[in-house]
Amino acid sequence: MTRSLRSALSSCESLRLTAFRARRRLTVPIQVPARFLESVIGADMAEVDRVLRESLASDVALIRRIAEYIVGSGGKRLRPSLLLLTAGACGYHGRDHYTLAAVIEMIHTATLLHDDVVDDSKLRRGHATANAAFGNPASVLVGDFLYSRAFQLMVGVERMRVLAILADTTNVIAEGEVLQLMNAGNAALDERAYFDVIERKTAKLFEAAARLGAVLGDADAAREDAFRRYGMQLGTAFQIMDDVLDYSGNADVIGKSLGDDLAEGKMTLPLIRALALGNAEEVETIRHAIAGGGLTDFAPVVAALQRTGALAYAQERATDASREAARCLDGLAPSPCAETLLQLSAFAVDRRF
Ligand code: IPE
Ligand code: IPE
Ligand code: MG
Ligand code: MG
Repeated sequence: MTRSLRSALSSCESLRLTAFRARRRLTVPIQVPARFLESVIGADMAEVDRVLRESLASDVALIRRIAEYIVGSGGKRLRPSLLLLTAGACGYHGRDHYTLAAVIEMIHTATLLHDDVVDDSKLRRGHATANAAFGNPASVLVGDFLYSRAFQLMVGVERMRVLAILADTTNVIAEGEVLQLMNAGNAALDERAYFDVIERKTAKLFEAAARLGAVLGDADAAREDAFRRYGMQLGTAFQIMDDVLDYSGNADVIGKSLGDDLAEGKMTLPLIRALALGNAEEVETIRHAIAGGGLTDFAPVVAALQRTGALAYAQERATDASREAARCLDGLAPSPCAETLLQLSAFAVDRRF
């Protein structure tokens, strides 16, 4: 591990900010991954948040209620941060990065609304999921509203390349989620198929966010491509760690329930590795859990993941991707934004939430 990666890892700390939560007048934490992010783009992110909330306007009361429920419950705002940082690193000084960062977060939020229905998840950002609170139909439909509102906003930027990137990205994300659905319960899934899913469903949006900052900043083709690859590697590391945390995290800290993946028969990297290395009994336990769904086998499956070193293996693969992301920043002129991008690559692996 490089020294800069190590020092970035140690500087990651949770900074809790209070945010006004619309309608319910509760204060809830927005979890900023680290103080370094707040100090570099805190003011810009406040502007993104303003655009985001303004964009939730609708005369349909249930849309406002659910959209504000999920947007107001916080989240790490990583993807919009990425866009602000790459735009900053490319010397962009306009205002379209606020719009596009809000667009990216809106697309992310739409995928979460849909994903929680598909995964039958009950907890998100430390609160009941929208599907648990308002029902599946309302969640799906408000997710559609957010997707289409995101497209209305991005048209305002009046750049065909921006539209093309975001249209392709949302399409690929949908493919990833459908592929994952097709793979559910398939204990024969291999690593290549797993990476195919996570690159589409998760890393693609990180890729778009990182690339769009370069597009706005009129960076040359080499820099745009380097940011594109950075986003893809960062998102890959991020999703692998999400899959590790689903077995080994602290639910209070991540704000989601553990075991959602196993309950849905989702074949993630830790399970794929444990199936390859486990003894006959462990393999049988995992196959049974995957085929049957539910969480009755959660404890023995976690024990198998630990004994086979499958969680550590997945973390190593995440570290590989994180290092690859860091390498994509080689040659970038030093700046607070560039340094923060490096720190984010470390955070993707080091994170506990
Ligand atoms: C959750 O993403 C979905 C995944 C791709 C794992 P985040 O962990 O970034 O969710 P929030 O926005 O911080 O809640
Ligand atoms: C990420 O996968 C889903 C999306 C890209 C929308 P997960 O299903 O693992 O995400 P969480 O754990 O529910 O946040
Ligand atoms: Mg999910
Ligand atoms: Mg997950």
